[in-house]
Amino acid sequence: MALLSILCYPDARLHTVAKPVSAFDRDLEVLAQDMLETMYDSNGIGLAATQVDVHQRLIVMDTSEERNAPLVLINPELIEKSEETLIAEEGCLSVPGIFDGVERAKEIRVSYLDLQGQRQSLHASDLQAVCIQHEMDHLMGRVFVEYLSFLKRSRIKSKFLKAQRQNSRD
Ligand code: NI
Repeated sequence: MALLSILCYPDARLHTVAKPVSAFDRDLEVLAQDMLETMYDSNGIGLAATQVDVHQRLIVMDTSEERNAPLVLINPELIEKSEETLIAEEGCLSVPGIFDGVERAKEIRVSYLDLQGQRQSLHASDLQAVCIQHEMDHLMGRVFVEYLSFLKRSRIKSKFLKAQRQNSRD
């Protein structure tokens, strides 16, 4: 088990489109375990492989109150989504400290493979549905701040660039 380092917005690697997972081997299990450990350690509810600079279609999540229901979704596909939407306050481990509302489908059905390569299907609503849509966006190279207004996004981008410049000077 190991903690992985998380790419921080506006790192260009966050815009990489992930490729489907094809090998269901020990390496994939280790990656999923390390991603879960990294997510719990950072108090996140979801993490996409893209965020740890691995460009494969894999996400981990746990939206339970008790933080004891880890879920690994490989090659997830959105099968259905409700017309009804909700706007939830979202955050992201790659954009620390920024929270803002994004409109998403309230209910979805997602088809995915588990770590054994078995096809599974999940009906999710509210927080879990939001989390899956947010993480699946990462796999397409999309970060949630891209849904915000140009002005908000520009402010966030300059804030992070400035912080990174200061860190590299120290
Ligand atoms: Ni995120």
